[in-house]
Amino acid sequence: MKKIVILTGAGISAESGLGTFRDEGGLWSQHRIEDVATPEGFTRNPLLVHEFYNARRLQATRALPNSAHTALARLEAEHPANVVIITQNVDNLHETAGSRTVLHMHGRLAGALCAKCGHRWDAPDAMQPDDPCPSCTTPAIRPDIVWFGEIPYHMDEIWDHLRDADLFAAIGTSGEVYPAAAFVQDADRNGAHTVELNLEPSSVVSDFSETHFGKATEIVPQWVENLLKG
Ligand code: APR
Repeated sequence: MKKIVILTGAGISAESGLGTFRDEGGLWSQHRIEDVATPEGFTRNPLLVHEFYNARRLQATRALPNSAHTALARLEAEHPANVVIITQNVDNLHETAGSRTVLHMHGRLAGALCAKCGHRWDAPDAMQPDDPCPSCTTPAIRPDIVWFGEIPYHMDEIWDHLRDADLFAAIGTSGEVYPAAAFVQDADRNGAHTVELNLEPSSVVSDFSETHFGKATEIVPQWVENLLKG
């Protein structure tokens, strides 16, 4: 096995205290996607959007990686194959756990982006609508997050990794959001063995050749242990 590609979603960070989106009591049951996760919502009410991400940024900075994050870092460190994590998550718990090859396809809470000139910089703890861009001075700061209707980041690299994958695993994701939900089909088409690890079957469970259900902190370390035993 030369390449292992792992897609992660909000479920892997749930036991670190970071809410998921679509589970009971999840973020999308408390906030309207149209208001806080679209460019149109940002234009309508940037203060509301900043308050939403400022609260998530504060929570994420206080969160610690759990044993599922550390197991994936161990896999990268100990397995002879090239291990790549493609995450939909905007927290940095993979990196804090020690993973080095992590692609944030939906952006990062720790990043700021100028909606006017495209300049990027480290996010302040809390953003305000009139914060000026350090490059063009325009008060057009936004979280460096990919919103609905926008193109995810790193897609060319991601397609390359999916093309070379011998093993593709999806961990803690509901399979509701594209293009991530279709990665299993791309990997399968290219001959990869595909594995779903989730609390419950996702919306695309039938696309996987192997499945494991349970809490990420229980099933991921076990799965990694078995992979390392070979
Ligand atoms: N262990 C394993 N899986 C879990 C756990 C846990 N402790 N808790 C929840 N899950 C699973 C749920 O069963 C669900 O299938 O994690 C999944 C979380 O699904 P979503 O809330 O839909 O999150 P995700 O798939 O990451 O969402 C994708 O949608 O809202 C957008 O941009 C946002 O990146 C996000 C994207």
